[in-house]
Amino acid sequence: MGDLEMPKIVFEDKIYTCEMGANLRQFLLSQGASPYNGPAKAINCLGLGTCGTCSVGIRGEVSQLSGMEKFRLSLPPHKGSEGGRRLACQVQVLGDVEVIKYEGFWGQGETQNPQTTAQ
Ligand code: FES
Repeated sequence: MGDLEMPKIVFEDKIYTCEMGANLRQFLLSQGASPYNGPAKAINCLGLGTCGTCSVGIRGEVSQLSGMEKFRLSLPPHKGSEGGRRLACQVQVLGDVEVIKYEGFWGQGETQNPQTTAQ
């Protein structure tokens, strides 16, 4: 029997249900939500893990850092803010999670961005 568990994603005051192992970036975009801020919505690497604009804070069960993700998060402007930030395009959802978007083009800020989906 397949795994019937459907993880819940809390993002921007909404609760979504996704397939186990779903790619976080692809899933949010499919729901009309976005891991990007402002112009990064149109100017990004389309999920290759190279631009860093899809960075988010995550609480919950997700895949381990990929090599590309670790490398990108070690570069500016993320360097120094690696603690807890993940690249949504590199993350697989493996359980219930809360996703937090921070301010800045790369989502590199310290303040939570309350308007991610309104832009
Ligand atoms: S979309 Fe570019 S790093 Fe995730």
